[in-house]
Amino acid sequence: MNNIIIKNASQVVTCSGFEGKRGKEMNDLHVIENGTVIVTDGIISHVLKQGESIPVNEADYEIISAEGKAVLPGFVDPHTHFVFGGYREEEFSWRMRGDSYMDIMNRGGGIVNTTRATREASEDDLFAAGKQRLDAMMQLGITTVEGKSGYGLDKETELKQLRVMRRLNEEHPMDVVPTFMGAHATPAEWKGREDEFIAFNINEVMPVVAQGKLAECADIFCEKNVFTIEQSRRYLQAARDLGFKLKIHADEIVQFGGAELAAELKCLSADHLLQASDKGIRAMAESGVVATLLPLTAFSLREDFARARTMIDNNCIVALATDLNPGSSFTASVPLLFALACIYMKMSPEEAVTAFTINSAAAIGRADKIGSIDVGKQGDLVLLQFPSYKFLPYHVGMNIVDTVIKKGKPL
Ligand code: NIG
Ligand code: FE
Repeated sequence: MNNIIIKNASQVVTCSGFEGKRGKEMNDLHVIENGTVIVTDGIISHVLKQGESIPVNEADYEIISAEGKAVLPGFVDPHTHFVFGGYREEEFSWRMRGDSYMDIMNRGGGIVNTTRATREASEDDLFAAGKQRLDAMMQLGITTVEGKSGYGLDKETELKQLRVMRRLNEEHPMDVVPTFMGAHATPAEWKGREDEFIAFNINEVMPVVAQGKLAECADIFCEKNVFTIEQSRRYLQAARDLGFKLKIHADEIVQFGGAELAAELKCLSADHLLQASDKGIRAMAESGVVATLLPLTAFSLREDFARARTMIDNNCIVALATDLNPGSSFTASVPLLFALACIYMKMSPEEAVTAFTINSAAAIGRADKIGSIDVGKQGDLVLLQFPSYKFLPYHVGMNIVDTVIKKGKPL
């Protein structure tokens, strides 16, 4: 029946809103002390303050007492590569000895290494591995996840990855938002013919993805020695013409003008941004591009963190994501994500919570349906073992999720 009443939560951290929040707005979580949330038929129907009487027949509802607990919107993870074959533990060891991520990629490892394993994996094996990863993410409070293709780099395998995500979306309680990322790297058979590979993606793969409604967004790795600004512009414009929302891996390793391009094209989000320029940051703020930051990746690659403070102080809409993938960030640790965002990127706990709820929903174009506790939104909620959201970054590295509720159903 998906009817539930969550009574007397120490805090209802509503994150109230229907679009991404920018700059100073990120600090207001619209908390209700000792509040109650009612979900009817999977949709949030009432958000009550202390003392307000319950306007539904309690006999029709499952009742959860949330005394001593904070309730938040389910977390939204807007950037992952969670469907992949194989692992890259050897590359991790090489990096610890001093090789860089790009050194390894340039000598034929990295993304194309995972591409080999993903091409070999059966659809069922990818499904089983993906399902396990979604289970783990849900236990950490994530209720919606974006997932990218991009480990096929040929038509057949790109479509295979996207079909796996569609099946997971249907069969797993997690909502999966699929992104086409045919331009994640250039595979060996196209090496040196990057322009032709982009044209192949535009002409042969993208239209099939669009026709099959296999992805909502399109993404490209815009980076020195990967894809140029020109190639990225061409690819993203073609994607827009086919109806995809646009995302871009921008300014991750070197300052490359990716943030500026995202602003020019009015992308939904630009992601990574470790090296984004001042000009790029101002341009993103102006054009309303969500700046999606991935501190677990910077941490894993031992790179400097993205300039979250500068972005928020310049009125950007900042979101957070795990970037779960087998190379640069083999983790979906929400606790570590919050700790790094606050301790190293100097975000306030309030900004970090906004960034992983309503703003991350905005980063996948769903701020109207998820990411906050507002009447009419999907009943995706997280109860913490502690009375305040402030424990999320403070209880470093610990999973403090008590209960996850998806569309009004406790899991
Ligand atoms: O977001 N930077 C490019 N893409 C991924 C890494 C993918 C991989 O190494 O397998 C990222 O970090
Ligand atoms: Fe990525």
